[in-house]
Amino acid sequence: MAGPSHHGLEPGDRPGTALDGRLLARLWPFVRPHAHLLWLGLLCLLLLSACRLAMPWLVKVAIDDYLSVGDLDGYYPLLVAFLLVGILNGVLRRTQHIAMETAGQNALLDLRLAIFRHLQQLQASFFDRTSTGRLVGRVTTDVEALQEMFASGVVTIIGDLIFLFATLAILFALHVKLALISLLVVPFLLIVTLIIRIKVRSAYVSMRAKLSEMNGFLHECISGMGVVQMFNREAATQKEYVAIASGVRDSQLKTVWWETSLSTSVELLSSLTGALILWYGGGLVAENWRTDGIQGGLTLGVLFAFIDYMQKFFHPLNELSLKYTVMQNAMTASRRIFDLLDVEERLPEQTNTVDPGEVVGELRFENVSFGYNPEVPVLKNLSFSVAPGEKVALVGATGAGKTTVLKLLTRLYDPTDGRILLDGVDIREYALRDLRKRIGLVPQDVFLFEGDILENIRLGHPEVSDERAIAAASRLHLDEIVARFPGGWHEPVRERGRNLSAGEKQLLSFARVFAASPRVLVLDEATSNVDSHTEHLLQEAVHDIMEGRTSIAIAHRLSTVRDVDRILLFHKGELVEQGSHADLLAAGGKYAALVALQYGDE
Ligand SMILES: Nc1ncnc2c1ncn2[C@@H]1O[C@H](COP(=O)(O)OP(=O)(O)OP(=O)(O)O)[C@@H](O)[C@H]1O
Ligand SMILES: [Mg+2]
Repeated sequence: MAGPSHHGLEPGDRPGTALDGRLLARLWPFVRPHAHLLWLGLLCLLLLSACRLAMPWLVKVAIDDYLSVGDLDGYYPLLVAFLLVGILNGVLRRTQHIAMETAGQNALLDLRLAIFRHLQQLQASFFDRTSTGRLVGRVTTDVEALQEMFASGVVTIIGDLIFLFATLAILFALHVKLALISLLVVPFLLIVTLIIRIKVRSAYVSMRAKLSEMNGFLHECISGMGVVQMFNREAATQKEYVAIASGVRDSQLKTVWWETSLSTSVELLSSLTGALILWYGGGLVAENWRTDGIQGGLTLGVLFAFIDYMQKFFHPLNELSLKYTVMQNAMTASRRIFDLLDVEERLPEQTNTVDPGEVVGELRFENVSFGYNPEVPVLKNLSFSVAPGEKVALVGATGAGKTTVLKLLTRLYDPTDGRILLDGVDIREYALRDLRKRIGLVPQDVFLFEGDILENIRLGHPEVSDERAIAAASRLHLDEIVARFPGGWHEPVRERGRNLSAGEKQLLSFARVFAASPRVLVLDEATSNVDSHTEHLLQEAVHDIMEGRTSIAIAHRLSTVRDVDRILLFHKGELVEQGSHADLLAAGGKYAALVALQYGDE
């Protein structure tokens, strides 16, 4: 079921720091092309801080220099200035936001593309080991964590810090003692927010884990709904879902609890600060009035400015701890992304490859050994050859290694020992593209992509014309089936082809090979049963398609085996018998036993 949250720690993750120079340096190349926007955003940010600092100051001057002496003529221009600064503030905020988001989103697009490009180059063994959910998480959730960093993180932290220090400077310039008293609460605020933030963060991590568990559960149940219903599992599944969904509710409520504790504490401490300023500052103002300013004290304008500045001061202070966690998430996410980008598991390709041209189609396996896991050999010292145009069938018990032979031939994996030759040349000397274009594959599990029927037939060979694709499909009598579809040849094929029947999917995958018409054909016959009519169509298709090509068919049906020139019998990764159907039957060895077992009733 669903793996751990992508925001939480995964096995192998080191606990994150909020700033990691090495990671930032690796992110930079993605940001650099859009850096001009970043600088624009930064400039706006500085001007924005200036605006925010100017507003309380304008009010202070208005009160002390004009209002308190009844000078409305001087007061109105300040009002206009106040309004203008307010408008400028809005414009700058929006510009800053858009510039930084644009830079961030573009950088993330480049990053997403880079990850996907990288994934497409990795070899099959990597995907054997790595869970799909986790890889999808790299491209989605982890990239989103970085997006949060751009939206609210790094650059604005600089702005916040500048704003905080500038505010401090102004407060101290206005009145040292009152400034000290205003800041009394700040250490408490920092400690309280930090503690609660840690709680919030861990609540979020567990909430995300629960959410991803729920998503995984739903994904599995919805795609297997038919099975759930068939096996009367509704009640049991519902019960499981109740547990998971309640867990989600509880964890959501927990985050709300801590989030509100945080905002409440910040508000309380901010009010406390306001009260402190009013208490101490109020005394000073009263003294100022009593003595007409002679004994010092404080003007009303300064008192107002203090309250306003302190309110503005609390907001970024509170945000700092939030941004700290955003940065921490972003660093964890980017470490995971770069760990993936650092995976160098791809099949070695030679630099000066041999151009296969039009291949003749002579195949040779020379002492090939292979194991998905080096300790568990799947193919052992395998040697055989197939002449151009010869039709060969591989047979053997399930798990004998038949499909593996095809995977080596199409270079999804490379042998651990020995070599495979096509037209006398080691297949590793061809470019991967060239090799794979020349071998037609009908896989055991048909995989269709979203698109329409024709697009799926043309897969890998975009040069195939509509006419040729339709002609190929018609040879398999697919035209009769397609005629029933409302969309005809352009009938949409849904995810993995789930709107087609198993037999239709198989016919379609045969049509792919017909349309491409390769010299070498490898065919992994599906074991799933299709109706006898389709079975017959498939039989004919196999027969037709193998004609005149070098073909290796993994055969499960006796009729396929009878058609071929030679049969190779595999047993536990070794080639134990070969010959024609009649010869092998006559020899009375393992093949004869297998036939008797599998096709006893024929
Ligand atoms: N990706 C993989 N990772 C690890 N082991 C694998 C992998 N694919 C196959 N195997 C193992 O390799 C062995 C051979 O598998 P293979 O798919 O070649 O069998 P097969 O002869 O095609 O069987 P079948 O007739 O059932 O299709 C099996 O024991 C299988 O468990
Ligand atoms: Mg197989």
